[in-house]
Amino acid sequence: MKNKTIALVKGDGAGPEMMKVACAIAIEAAEKDDLKIIFEETPMGWNAYQEFGDTLPRESFKRAVELETIFFGGVGDPKFDDTIGIEKPEMKPEARCLLALRKKMGLLLNFRPMIYYKALAHLANVKPETIPDEGVQQIFVRFLLEDSYFGTADLIGEMDEVIRAKLGIKMKKDVVGDEEMITELAYYRKETIEKYFRAAFAYARTKGLPLISIDKANVMSRYDYWRKIATRIGKDEFPDVKLVHQLVDSANALLFTPAKLHGVIVCGNEHGDILSDGAAAALGSMGMMCSSAINPDTGAAMAESGAGTAHMIAGQDKANPIGRILTAAMMLRHIGATNGADSIEEAVLKILKAGWRTSDITSITDSPEMILGTSAMGKKVLQEIK
Ligand code: IPM
Ligand code: MG
Repeated sequence: MKNKTIALVKGDGAGPEMMKVACAIAIEAAEKDDLKIIFEETPMGWNAYQEFGDTLPRESFKRAVELETIFFGGVGDPKFDDTIGIEKPEMKPEARCLLALRKKMGLLLNFRPMIYYKALAHLANVKPETIPDEGVQQIFVRFLLEDSYFGTADLIGEMDEVIRAKLGIKMKKDVVGDEEMITELAYYRKETIEKYFRAAFAYARTKGLPLISIDKANVMSRYDYWRKIATRIGKDEFPDVKLVHQLVDSANALLFTPAKLHGVIVCGNEHGDILSDGAAAALGSMGMMCSSAINPDTGAAMAESGAGTAHMIAGQDKANPIGRILTAAMMLRHIGATNGADSIEEAVLKILKAGWRTSDITSITDSPEMILGTSAMGKKVLQEIK
């Protein structure tokens, strides 16, 4: 059996409870591919702050980057944001940890498949006939670098402070709340967009799905640039993949008719952040969202459930671990443990079909004995894949 060491960020709130079950499932499932997974903890988030005085301890960051595969349990907790976070805004872990890891590891492609389960149709916020068939058919592949997330720091970092002040440009850490104007820069590099589109087109080709490219080319020059590159690469290198251009505002409206956004959806960093939450909510599965980011050159990856830290119910064994579990499946697929990944996804489908629920995904017709806590749901999945 081969060994694979993965950096584990248990995270804040109910993160550790959910990650505990997701890790046990990942270890068990990977054995189907003759892989022994060893999780090595690299603490980050407010829990790490309490222990080490930093939400991103240097050692954790270094080791996680070195290991090249991270299982990230979600960070953030309003209890700390509203206390320590006010004095030390730079410690807020969402930006401090996630953005630093994404940038350092070059995690350009962020896969966020929207998985619709018929058994959970009662959760969907759209008309049932507008939902695609069971299974994954709406796959967001968000561009996870550059754009407005990194623009100011990347482009202005070295600029003279007087000029910076004149332009109203401030670094995040200098924003105190009494500014008269704020400028934030956004950018895309030709080389990065090209790399992104080549990887996304290739992925759409393997899936046999169209590539839906979201932009704001009618107004914003960086998206006009984006669209031109998408069109050129599609025409020259992937003529067999259907390319559709969709403006971001109309794409947002289409989230209410999910079957109309059927394909691999590529979008900028900021657009992708907003649209992927909306898409998950439309299908009613916000708490079940799974997400994984990769560097297409090095293979480095961070599997990060987008489902939040459920801090309100931390420590109560109530949080829904399915988002984390499905994210573990994405991680396994990425490291080549495809049998394990398939077995997890099939187990979740089977368990939901059989009527097992966590409290956030119930309907009024569910009987109380079918409603499980975090660890019991984890055990169910584990039994199923054994
Ligand atoms: C996400 C999150 C992050 C983002 C935050 C926490 C930095 O919202 O992964 O969608 O904006 O990318
Ligand atoms: Mg988000």
